[in-house]
Amino acid sequence: MTTPDNIATSSSTSPHGAADPSMRDSAALPNQAYVEHSEWLKERDLVIAKTWAGLGFSRDISQPGSVYPVVFMGLPLVMVRDQHGQARVFHNVCRHRGMQLVAESGDAGLTIRCPYHKWGYDLSGHLKTTPNIGGMGVHQVDGFDCAEHALTAVRCEESMGVVFINLSGTAPALSEHLAPLLSRWHELAGPAFDQRLSADTSESGSMELVLKANYKLAVENYCESYHLPFVHPDLNTYSPLDAHYNLTVDPLASGQGTRVYDLSRGDSEPLPLFPDWDGDRLKTAEYLSLYPNVLLGIQADHFFVILLMSEAVDQTRERLQFLYADIAATDEAYRSRRESLHAAWSIVFAEDISVVEGMQRGRSSPAFDGGLFTPLMDVPTHHFHQWFLSRLEKNTTRAVR
Ligand code: FES
Ligand SMILES: [Fe+2]
Repeated sequence: MTTPDNIATSSSTSPHGAADPSMRDSAALPNQAYVEHSEWLKERDLVIAKTWAGLGFSRDISQPGSVYPVVFMGLPLVMVRDQHGQARVFHNVCRHRGMQLVAESGDAGLTIRCPYHKWGYDLSGHLKTTPNIGGMGVHQVDGFDCAEHALTAVRCEESMGVVFINLSGTAPALSEHLAPLLSRWHELAGPAFDQRLSADTSESGSMELVLKANYKLAVENYCESYHLPFVHPDLNTYSPLDAHYNLTVDPLASGQGTRVYDLSRGDSEPLPLFPDWDGDRLKTAEYLSLYPNVLLGIQADHFFVILLMSEAVDQTRERLQFLYADIAATDEAYRSRRESLHAAWSIVFAEDISVVEGMQRGRSSPAFDGGLFTPLMDVPTHHFHQWFLSRLEKNTTRAVR
Protein backbone atom coordinates (compact mmCIF):
# COMPACT_ATOMS: atom_id res chain seq x y z
CA MET A 1 0.00 0.00 0.00
CA THR A 2 1.00 3.57 -0.57
CA THR A 3 1.49 6.26 2.00
CA PRO A 4 -1.36 8.78 1.96
CA ASP A 5 0.40 11.47 0.02
CA ASN A 6 3.30 10.01 -1.78
CA ILE A 7 4.53 6.63 -2.85
CA ALA A 8 8.13 7.76 -2.69
CA THR A 9 10.08 6.66 0.34
CA SER A 10 13.70 7.48 -0.53
CA SER A 11 15.69 10.43 0.74
CA SER A 12 15.11 12.34 -2.49
CA THR A 13 14.25 15.99 -1.87
CA SER A 14 12.21 16.32 -5.07
CA PRO A 15 8.51 16.97 -4.46
CA HIS A 16 7.91 14.30 -7.09
CA GLY A 17 9.44 11.65 -4.85
CA ALA A 18 12.22 9.17 -5.36
CA ALA A 19 14.33 8.76 -8.47
CA ASP A 20 14.90 5.20 -9.63
CA PRO A 21 18.25 5.00 -11.44
CA SER A 22 17.66 1.34 -12.34
CA MET A 23 14.95 2.40 -14.78
CA ARG A 24 17.71 3.45 -17.17
CA ASP A 25 18.14 -0.15 -18.29
CA SER A 26 14.50 -1.13 -18.17
CA ALA A 27 12.60 -2.41 -21.18
CA ALA A 28 9.89 -0.29 -22.77
CA LEU A 29 7.17 -1.42 -25.13
CA PRO A 30 8.40 -1.61 -28.71
CA ASN A 31 6.81 0.25 -31.62
CA GLN A 32 4.89 -2.80 -32.76
CA ALA A 33 2.75 -2.62 -29.60
CA TYR A 34 1.40 0.68 -30.93
CA VAL A 35 1.16 0.11 -34.67
CA GLU A 36 0.46 -3.54 -35.52
CA HIS A 37 -3.09 -4.84 -35.73
CA SER A 38 -2.04 -8.40 -34.84
CA GLU A 39 -0.36 -7.13 -31.65
CA TRP A 40 -3.53 -5.24 -30.75
CA LEU A 41 -5.60 -8.43 -30.93
CA LYS A 42 -2.96 -10.39 -29.02
CA GLU A 43 -2.96 -7.72 -26.34
CA ARG A 44 -6.75 -7.92 -26.07
CA ASP A 45 -6.72 -11.68 -25.62
CA LEU A 46 -3.59 -12.12 -23.49
CA VAL A 47 -3.49 -8.98 -21.35
CA ILE A 48 -6.79 -7.13 -21.27
CA ALA A 49 -9.11 -10.15 -21.25
CA LYS A 50 -7.45 -11.42 -18.07
CA THR A 51 -8.13 -8.34 -15.98
CA TRP A 52 -10.91 -5.79 -15.46
CA ALA A 53 -11.36 -3.21 -18.22
CA GLY A 54 -13.77 -0.29 -18.46
CA LEU A 55 -16.56 -0.89 -20.97
CA GLY A 56 -19.00 1.94 -20.31
CA PHE A 57 -20.63 4.13 -17.70
CA SER A 58 -23.30 3.10 -15.24
CA ARG A 59 -25.23 6.06 -16.65
CA ASP A 60 -25.25 4.53 -20.13
CA ILE A 61 -27.72 1.98 -18.79
CA SER A 62 -29.52 4.13 -16.27
CA GLN A 63 -32.89 2.30 -16.11
CA PRO A 64 -34.10 -1.31 -16.17
CA GLY A 65 -34.44 -2.13 -19.86
CA SER A 66 -31.63 0.21 -20.96
CA VAL A 67 -29.35 -1.28 -23.62
CA TYR A 68 -26.08 0.16 -24.87
CA PRO A 69 -24.03 -1.54 -27.61
CA VAL A 70 -20.24 -1.21 -27.50
CA VAL A 71 -17.57 -2.62 -29.80
CA PHE A 72 -14.71 -3.44 -27.48
CA MET A 73 -11.42 -3.90 -29.35
CA GLY A 74 -13.33 -5.51 -32.21
CA LEU A 75 -15.76 -7.52 -30.04
CA PRO A 76 -19.45 -6.58 -30.38
CA LEU A 77 -20.87 -6.41 -26.84
CA VAL A 78 -24.00 -4.95 -25.31
CA MET A 79 -24.53 -3.54 -21.81
CA VAL A 80 -27.97 -4.11 -20.30
CA ARG A 81 -29.65 -2.98 -17.08
CA ASP A 82 -31.87 -5.88 -16.03
CA GLN A 83 -35.23 -5.69 -14.28
CA HIS A 84 -33.54 -5.89 -10.86
CA GLY A 85 -31.23 -2.97 -11.61
CA GLN A 86 -28.18 -5.14 -12.12
CA ALA A 87 -25.74 -4.36 -14.94
CA ARG A 88 -25.18 -7.18 -17.39
CA VAL A 89 -23.00 -7.53 -20.47
CA PHE A 90 -23.53 -9.96 -23.32
CA HIS A 91 -21.87 -10.69 -26.61
CA ASN A 92 -24.09 -8.67 -28.92
CA VAL A 93 -24.91 -11.50 -31.26
CA CYS A 94 -28.06 -13.54 -31.74
CA ARG A 95 -27.70 -17.25 -31.05
CA HIS A 96 -29.65 -18.11 -34.25
CA ARG A 97 -27.76 -16.81 -37.29
CA GLY A 98 -25.36 -14.41 -35.66
CA MET A 99 -27.16 -11.15 -36.32
CA GLN A 100 -26.00 -8.16 -34.30
CA LEU A 101 -28.75 -7.90 -31.73
CA VAL A 102 -28.67 -4.29 -30.59
CA ALA A 103 -27.58 -1.57 -33.00
CA GLU A 104 -28.49 1.52 -30.95
CA SER A 105 -28.71 2.47 -27.31
CA GLY A 106 -32.16 3.00 -25.79
CA ASP A 107 -34.95 1.31 -23.87
CA ALA A 108 -35.61 -2.29 -24.87
CA GLY A 109 -38.48 -2.69 -22.41
CA LEU A 110 -38.54 -6.26 -21.11
CA THR A 111 -37.30 -7.95 -24.28
CA ILE A 112 -34.24 -7.66 -26.49
CA ARG A 113 -35.55 -8.62 -29.89
CA CYS A 114 -33.35 -9.70 -32.77
CA PRO A 115 -34.08 -7.62 -35.89
CA TYR A 116 -33.72 -10.63 -38.21
CA HIS A 117 -36.26 -13.35 -37.23
CA LYS A 118 -37.47 -11.60 -34.06
CA TRP A 119 -36.25 -14.03 -31.44
CA GLY A 120 -36.71 -12.41 -28.05
CA TYR A 121 -34.33 -12.53 -25.07
CA ASP A 122 -35.19 -11.29 -21.61
CA LEU A 123 -32.95 -8.79 -19.81
CA SER A 124 -31.07 -11.66 -18.16
CA GLY A 125 -30.18 -13.04 -21.61
CA HIS A 126 -32.56 -16.01 -21.60
CA LEU A 127 -34.16 -16.88 -24.92
CA LYS A 128 -37.90 -16.57 -24.40
CA THR A 129 -39.64 -16.34 -27.75
CA THR A 130 -38.97 -17.85 -31.17
CA PRO A 131 -41.75 -16.64 -33.51
CA ASN A 132 -42.75 -19.01 -36.32
CA ILE A 133 -39.98 -21.47 -35.49
CA GLY A 134 -42.37 -24.36 -36.26
CA GLY A 135 -43.93 -22.68 -39.32
CA MET A 136 -46.19 -19.66 -39.62
CA GLY A 137 -47.97 -19.06 -36.32
CA VAL A 138 -46.22 -21.99 -34.57
CA HIS A 139 -43.72 -20.73 -32.05
CA GLN A 140 -42.17 -23.95 -30.73
CA VAL A 141 -40.73 -26.98 -32.42
CA ASP A 142 -39.70 -30.45 -31.25
CA GLY A 143 -35.98 -30.77 -30.68
CA PHE A 144 -35.43 -27.11 -29.87
CA ASP A 145 -35.16 -26.00 -26.25
CA CYS A 146 -34.94 -22.25 -25.62
CA ALA A 147 -33.17 -22.93 -22.32
CA GLU A 148 -30.11 -24.10 -24.24
CA HIS A 149 -29.71 -20.89 -26.19
CA ALA A 150 -29.23 -17.99 -23.81
CA LEU A 151 -27.04 -15.07 -24.82
CA THR A 152 -23.36 -15.48 -24.04
CA ALA A 153 -22.64 -13.44 -20.94
CA VAL A 154 -19.48 -11.49 -20.13
CA ARG A 155 -18.58 -11.07 -16.48
CA CYS A 156 -19.25 -7.51 -15.35
CA GLU A 157 -19.36 -5.38 -12.18
CA GLU A 158 -19.72 -1.68 -11.42
CA SER A 159 -17.59 0.70 -9.40
CA MET A 160 -17.03 4.49 -9.46
CA GLY A 161 -19.74 4.93 -12.09
CA VAL A 162 -18.02 2.53 -14.50
CA VAL A 163 -19.19 -0.81 -15.87
CA PHE A 164 -16.11 -3.04 -15.87
CA ILE A 165 -15.76 -6.34 -17.73
CA ASN A 166 -13.48 -9.31 -17.25
CA LEU A 167 -13.57 -11.23 -20.54
CA SER A 168 -11.78 -14.32 -19.26
CA GLY A 169 -14.03 -14.63 -16.21
CA THR A 170 -11.00 -15.60 -14.15
CA ALA A 171 -9.92 -12.35 -12.47
CA PRO A 172 -10.52 -11.80 -8.73
CA ALA A 173 -13.74 -9.99 -7.80
CA LEU A 174 -13.71 -6.34 -8.87
CA SER A 175 -13.75 -5.08 -5.27
CA GLU A 176 -10.71 -7.21 -4.51
CA HIS A 177 -8.97 -6.09 -7.68
CA LEU A 178 -9.58 -2.40 -6.91
CA ALA A 179 -8.94 -2.67 -3.15
CA PRO A 180 -5.49 -0.98 -3.14
CA LEU A 181 -6.90 2.02 -4.99
CA LEU A 182 -10.24 2.19 -3.18
CA SER A 183 -8.70 1.95 0.27
CA ARG A 184 -6.44 4.87 -0.60
CA TRP A 185 -9.34 6.97 -1.80
CA HIS A 186 -11.68 5.89 0.97
CA GLU A 187 -9.20 7.59 3.32
CA LEU A 188 -9.29 10.70 1.18
CA ALA A 189 -12.91 10.92 0.00
CA GLY A 190 -14.77 8.90 2.60
CA PRO A 191 -16.00 5.32 2.80
CA ALA A 192 -18.07 4.00 -0.08
CA PHE A 193 -17.62 7.11 -2.23
CA ASP A 194 -17.27 4.68 -5.15
CA GLN A 195 -20.69 3.11 -4.53
CA ARG A 196 -22.34 6.51 -4.39
CA LEU A 197 -20.79 7.44 -7.73
CA SER A 198 -22.06 4.22 -9.32
CA ALA A 199 -25.58 5.02 -8.19
CA ASP A 200 -25.46 8.56 -9.58
CA THR A 201 -27.49 8.62 -12.78
CA SER A 202 -27.84 12.40 -13.01
CA GLU A 203 -26.75 14.02 -16.26
CA SER A 204 -23.85 16.10 -15.11
CA GLY A 205 -21.53 16.56 -18.01
CA SER A 206 -19.63 14.55 -20.53
CA MET A 207 -17.32 14.96 -23.47
CA GLU A 208 -15.92 12.77 -26.19
CA LEU A 209 -12.74 12.96 -28.26
CA VAL A 210 -11.24 10.75 -30.95
CA LEU A 211 -7.48 10.37 -30.89
CA LYS A 212 -5.51 9.07 -33.82
CA ALA A 213 -3.31 7.13 -31.46
CA ASN A 214 -3.02 3.84 -29.62
CA TYR A 215 -4.84 3.96 -26.30
CA LYS A 216 -1.64 3.17 -24.37
CA LEU A 217 -0.21 6.54 -25.35
CA ALA A 218 -3.18 8.23 -23.68
CA VAL A 219 -2.51 6.12 -20.57
CA GLU A 220 1.15 7.07 -20.59
CA ASN A 221 0.48 10.76 -21.09
CA TYR A 222 -1.99 10.72 -18.22
CA CYS A 223 0.58 9.01 -15.98
CA GLU A 224 2.96 11.93 -15.92
CA SER A 225 2.94 15.54 -14.82
CA TYR A 226 6.26 16.32 -16.53
CA HIS A 227 4.53 17.96 -19.51
CA LEU A 228 2.27 20.16 -17.35
CA PRO A 229 3.98 23.58 -17.75
CA PHE A 230 4.55 23.14 -21.48
CA VAL A 231 1.31 21.55 -22.65
CA HIS A 232 -1.10 22.91 -20.00
CA PRO A 233 0.12 26.39 -19.06
CA ASP A 234 -3.25 27.48 -17.65
CA LEU A 235 -3.74 24.35 -15.52
CA ASN A 236 -0.23 24.89 -14.23
CA THR A 237 -1.38 28.18 -12.69
CA TYR A 238 -3.90 26.52 -10.33
CA SER A 239 -2.23 23.11 -10.09
CA PRO A 240 1.52 23.74 -10.59
CA LEU A 241 4.09 21.09 -11.45
CA ASP A 242 6.26 21.71 -8.41
CA ALA A 243 3.46 20.58 -6.05
CA HIS A 244 2.99 17.26 -7.84
CA TYR A 245 4.10 13.84 -6.69
CA ASN A 246 4.42 10.54 -8.49
CA LEU A 247 1.93 7.92 -7.55
CA THR A 248 1.98 4.17 -8.04
CA VAL A 249 -0.68 1.88 -6.64
CA ASP A 250 0.50 -1.70 -6.93
CA PRO A 251 -0.26 -3.53 -9.02
CA LEU A 252 -3.01 -1.82 -10.92
CA ALA A 253 -2.49 1.91 -11.40
CA SER A 254 -0.06 4.80 -11.59
CA GLY A 255 -0.18 8.52 -12.11
CA GLN A 256 0.34 11.71 -10.19
CA GLY A 257 -1.11 13.83 -7.46
CA THR A 258 -0.96 17.41 -6.34
CA ARG A 259 -1.21 19.06 -2.95
CA VAL A 260 -2.32 22.48 -4.15
CA TYR A 261 -5.24 22.01 -6.54
CA ASP A 262 -7.18 25.27 -6.24
CA LEU A 263 -10.80 24.19 -5.83
CA SER A 264 -12.22 27.59 -6.63
CA ARG A 265 -10.06 27.83 -9.78
CA GLY A 266 -10.19 31.58 -9.57
CA ASP A 267 -13.97 31.73 -9.00
CA SER A 268 -15.64 32.70 -5.77
CA GLU A 269 -16.53 29.35 -4.27
CA PRO A 270 -16.16 25.66 -4.98
CA LEU A 271 -18.90 23.16 -5.66
CA PRO A 272 -20.17 21.14 -2.66
CA LEU A 273 -17.48 18.75 -1.40
CA PHE A 274 -17.49 15.04 -0.66
CA PRO A 275 -19.08 15.01 2.83
CA ASP A 276 -16.30 12.86 4.32
CA TRP A 277 -13.33 14.33 2.45
CA ASP A 278 -10.23 14.63 4.62
CA GLY A 279 -10.30 18.24 5.84
CA ASP A 280 -6.51 18.38 6.08
CA ARG A 281 -6.18 17.60 2.39
CA LEU A 282 -8.74 19.87 0.78
CA LYS A 283 -6.34 20.82 -1.99
CA THR A 284 -5.20 17.29 -2.74
CA ALA A 285 -6.14 15.97 -6.16
CA GLU A 286 -5.01 12.69 -7.68
CA TYR A 287 -4.94 11.41 -11.25
CA LEU A 288 -4.49 7.70 -11.82
CA SER A 289 -4.36 5.56 -14.92
CA LEU A 290 -6.20 2.43 -13.85
CA TYR A 291 -4.79 -0.19 -16.19
CA PRO A 292 -5.58 -0.94 -18.86
CA ASN A 293 -8.02 1.71 -20.07
CA VAL A 294 -9.60 3.87 -17.34
CA LEU A 295 -8.31 7.31 -16.35
CA LEU A 296 -9.54 8.69 -13.04
CA GLY A 297 -9.35 12.14 -11.47
CA ILE A 298 -10.41 12.87 -7.91
CA GLN A 299 -10.75 16.31 -6.32
CA ALA A 300 -12.65 17.32 -3.18
CA ASP A 301 -15.61 18.60 -5.20
CA HIS A 302 -15.70 16.38 -8.27
CA PHE A 303 -14.54 13.19 -9.84
CA PHE A 304 -14.10 12.32 -13.47
CA VAL A 305 -13.61 9.17 -15.42
CA ILE A 306 -12.20 8.85 -18.92
CA LEU A 307 -12.78 5.56 -20.69
CA LEU A 308 -10.26 4.84 -23.41
CA MET A 309 -12.20 2.90 -26.01
CA SER A 310 -9.64 1.36 -28.30
CA GLU A 311 -11.27 1.29 -31.75
CA ALA A 312 -8.18 0.26 -33.71
CA VAL A 313 -4.49 -0.12 -32.98
CA ASP A 314 -4.05 3.56 -33.86
CA GLN A 315 -7.43 5.04 -32.90
CA THR A 316 -8.98 5.66 -29.49
CA ARG A 317 -12.27 7.22 -28.48
CA GLU A 318 -12.05 9.03 -25.15
CA ARG A 319 -15.35 9.15 -23.28
CA LEU A 320 -15.33 11.45 -20.25
CA GLN A 321 -17.99 11.72 -17.55
CA PHE A 322 -18.04 14.14 -14.65
CA LEU A 323 -19.43 12.93 -11.33
CA TYR A 324 -19.95 15.33 -8.48
CA ALA A 325 -18.95 14.87 -4.87
CA ASP A 326 -22.41 15.87 -3.74
CA ILE A 327 -25.57 15.38 -5.79
CA ALA A 328 -26.52 18.96 -4.82
CA ALA A 329 -23.90 20.16 -7.30
CA THR A 330 -26.25 19.24 -10.14
CA ASP A 331 -28.74 21.90 -8.96
CA GLU A 332 -29.47 24.81 -11.27
CA ALA A 333 -27.81 27.14 -8.76
CA TYR A 334 -24.44 25.59 -9.62
CA ARG A 335 -24.83 25.65 -13.38
CA SER A 336 -22.22 28.33 -14.05
CA ARG A 337 -19.72 26.65 -11.69
CA ARG A 338 -20.18 23.37 -13.49
CA GLU A 339 -19.85 25.03 -16.87
CA SER A 340 -16.62 26.72 -15.90
CA LEU A 341 -15.28 23.42 -14.56
CA HIS A 342 -16.19 21.62 -17.81
CA ALA A 343 -14.65 24.40 -19.86
CA ALA A 344 -11.39 24.26 -17.90
CA TRP A 345 -11.05 20.48 -18.24
CA SER A 346 -12.11 20.59 -21.91
CA ILE A 347 -9.13 22.84 -22.59
CA VAL A 348 -6.77 20.52 -20.72
CA PHE A 349 -7.90 17.36 -22.51
CA ALA A 350 -7.85 19.07 -25.91
CA GLU A 351 -4.30 20.25 -25.19
CA ASP A 352 -3.18 16.63 -24.79
CA ILE A 353 -4.40 15.53 -28.22
CA SER A 354 -1.48 16.85 -30.23
CA VAL A 355 1.19 15.30 -28.00
CA VAL A 356 -0.50 11.91 -27.86
CA GLU A 357 -1.00 11.87 -31.64
CA GLY A 358 2.57 13.11 -32.09
CA MET A 359 3.89 10.14 -30.08
CA GLN A 360 1.85 7.83 -32.32
CA ARG A 361 3.46 9.33 -35.44
CA GLY A 362 6.86 8.89 -33.83
CA ARG A 363 6.23 5.18 -33.47
CA SER A 364 6.46 4.72 -37.23
CA SER A 365 10.13 5.67 -37.03
CA PRO A 366 12.84 2.99 -37.08
CA ALA A 367 14.97 5.48 -35.14
CA PHE A 368 12.76 4.95 -32.08
CA ASP A 369 11.82 1.70 -30.43
CA GLY A 370 10.85 2.22 -26.81
CA GLY A 371 12.75 5.35 -25.88
CA LEU A 372 13.93 6.39 -22.44
CA PHE A 373 12.49 6.34 -18.97
CA THR A 374 14.01 9.23 -17.08
CA PRO A 375 14.65 8.18 -13.47
CA LEU A 376 12.23 10.57 -11.76
CA MET A 377 9.55 12.00 -14.03
CA ASP A 378 8.80 8.74 -15.84
CA VAL A 379 8.37 6.52 -12.77
CA PRO A 380 4.58 6.15 -13.26
CA THR A 381 4.94 5.42 -17.00
CA HIS A 382 7.59 2.83 -16.26
CA HIS A 383 5.21 1.22 -13.77
CA PHE A 384 2.59 0.86 -16.53
CA HIS A 385 5.07 -0.74 -18.92
CA GLN A 386 6.20 -3.16 -16.24
CA TRP A 387 2.59 -4.11 -15.57
CA PHE A 388 1.92 -4.65 -19.26
CA LEU A 389 5.06 -6.60 -20.01
CA SER A 390 4.77 -8.85 -16.98
CA ARG A 391 1.20 -9.81 -17.90
CA LEU A 392 2.02 -10.30 -21.55
CA GLU A 393 4.91 -12.56 -20.62
CA LYS A 394 2.94 -14.51 -18.02
CA ASN A 395 -0.06 -15.11 -20.25
CA THR A 396 2.02 -15.82 -23.37
CA THR A 397 3.90 -18.48 -21.43
CA ARG A 398 0.64 -20.00 -20.24
CA ALA A 399 -0.81 -19.94 -23.75
CA VAL A 400 2.25 -21.77 -25.15
CA ARG A 401 2.13 -24.45 -22.47
S1 FES B 1 -30.55 -14.23 -36.46
FE1 FES B 1 -31.60 -13.56 -34.73
S2 FES B 1 -33.53 -14.44 -34.89
FE2 FES B 1 -32.49 -15.19 -36.61
FE1 LIG C 1 -1.82 16.39 -20.05
